[in-house]
Amino acid sequence: MESKLVVSLDLYDIGKLKKIAAEVGPVVYAIKLNWPSIMIEGAGIIQKISEYSRVICDLKIADIPNTNSLIARKVSELGAWGIISHSFTGSDSLRAVIDSAGKSKVFSVVSMSHPGSHEFLNRFTDDLIEISRSAGAYGLIAPGNNPDMLRHIRSRAGKLIVMTPGIGAQGGSPAEAIASGADLVIVGRSIYESSNPLEEAVRINRDIEVQLSGEKLPK
Ligand code: XMP
Repeated sequence: MESKLVVSLDLYDIGKLKKIAAEVGPVVYAIKLNWPSIMIEGAGIIQKISEYSRVICDLKIADIPNTNSLIARKVSELGAWGIISHSFTGSDSLRAVIDSAGKSKVFSVVSMSHPGSHEFLNRFTDDLIEISRSAGAYGLIAPGNNPDMLRHIRSRAGKLIVMTPGIGAQGGSPAEAIASGADLVIVGRSIYESSNPLEEAVRINRDIEVQLSGEKLPK
């Protein structure tokens, strides 16, 4: 079974990032890059890490349509398989990302995994799902540490792929996220801060496979 794990490598230490990417690349669905490594190494890191795995570029794009287009076009040209964009900026801004993303798949954020998401964003999740669907997003980002919200988003997502952060360090479990409807799970610190990132990634893959096959985990 193809892995459903997306490893987030939020590191300033580019040597360590590349070492982990080379180790885990063969066993994960994708590697997610975010601002910490891009600020140190520049956007060229997208191309470099694409040698090891698909790359999802998590810039959480949230600007006016013209600026969004400029960002999405460059990320796509650098070979990112996926791009994460906000949707709260409205359908014109999200559509600009999608229209400029070339072959890259666009995932749109409709709820987040941190407590602050309850203050504002979660009130608009249904509208954001609608904006994402009508703009032509490939997938949604939903909180893996909030199973009720995740199930709700899954029930409204239709054919959109649901990808969930909030696993491990933020309290969610990979198996529960999959059981609640996630297609892909994002794990960062639990993997890159562990003493053996490859072993940890393989363990998470196994937990997900067990969940999907209905087997009982050994005690
Ligand atoms: P950890 O270390 O918490 O890393 O496993 C999670 C990664 O995912 C990002 N993240 C989110 N991205 N919506 C998103 O689009 C969210 O709700 C969310 N929560 C965490 C985080 O920036 C890190 O890269």
